[in-house]
Amino acid sequence: MGAAGSGAAETDPRLLSRTRVFVVGAGIMGSGIAAQCALAGYAVTLSDLTDELAQKGVAGARRALDSAVRKGRIKESEREEATARIEPAIGYRRAGAAPILIEAVPEKLELKHEVFRELDRAASPSAILASNTSSLPITSIAKAVKDPGRVVGIHFFNPVLSMALVEVIPGHATRPEVLETAIELARSLGKTVVQSRDTPGFVTSRAVAVTMNEAVWMLYEGVASKEDIDAAYRLGFGHPMGPFELLDLVGLDTALSILDVLWDGYRDSKYRACPLLRTFVEAGKLGRKTGEGFYAYPPAPTEAKAA
Ligand SMILES: NC(=O)c1ccc[n+]([C@@H]2O[C@H](COP(=O)([O-])OP(=O)(O)OC[C@H]3O[C@@H](n4cnc5c(N)ncnc54)[C@H](O)[C@@H]3O)[C@@H](O)[C@H]2O)c1
Repeated sequence: MGAAGSGAAETDPRLLSRTRVFVVGAGIMGSGIAAQCALAGYAVTLSDLTDELAQKGVAGARRALDSAVRKGRIKESEREEATARIEPAIGYRRAGAAPILIEAVPEKLELKHEVFRELDRAASPSAILASNTSSLPITSIAKAVKDPGRVVGIHFFNPVLSMALVEVIPGHATRPEVLETAIELARSLGKTVVQSRDTPGFVTSRAVAVTMNEAVWMLYEGVASKEDIDAAYRLGFGHPMGPFELLDLVGLDTALSILDVLWDGYRDSKYRACPLLRTFVEAGKLGRKTGEGFYAYPPAPTEAKAA
């Protein structure tokens, strides 16, 4: 499948023997990670706070797989097999069955601590606990568990099925075999791995947060319209999407949280979030996931009918 590969043909048999991945947080990223793992042959438990949210995540995974079929990247039969491997769950009931657990809840340290405390209790003591955090240091997240040696960062990109990269981050205490398994998992999904030191924002979020924030500052200062700024990034630099389109895809709340983590971590004014971004988040305009961010996203006809 494209640059990233579907994962189906490139699966590492050593990892397939581990069979189950437990994903907590069935939002944009959790559903994409679930789809990617299922496509590569893993059984996936996709968990959220309520049955409705978990089911919504499974539907999101299905939509991602549908899109891969439409683009000719996977066969319909692969989509069906992958969808059948994803089970929704509430809380941590099925966590004990998985040797690898991946957290994908919102980018707030306190929330990550709460979830990691639960994972620590519910998971097998030999299981690996991974975070999909975009920016929070893994060493800080790992403080919530008894054995920080089993915690590692596995940072996927959005949309997971299309993006070739996974950034892997060992925390201060991460054991070498835990890091190795994280790399092996990402490769078994057909991804290319880059490794970053455990600093706020790692490599990728540090780079992209500044770019997106600068675009919001330009809009705030009246330098150009959002449409023109998006066109300038796309056509001037060959970016696949403009910064406002990207912000809407990522989620404005997530982008703001990343900037706040970078600001807290470095105290460098280049990470000072534009107040306009904060206003949008406070207004609940978070991007595609809420139907409106910098642009509006009317529901698809079928969704409108169902609502
Ligand atoms: N959005 C992106 O483009 C992107 C890219 C890479 C990494 N990330 C990172 O991935 C993580 C998740 O981001 P997202 O964009 O998927 O967020 P999201 O808001 O789309 O989804 C988060 C999900 O977590 C659930 N949740 C909240 N608290 C929970 C709890 N205690 N237990 C179980 N589920 C809970 C929410 O109900 C929601 O479904 C964040 O750390 C973010 O920084 C995001």
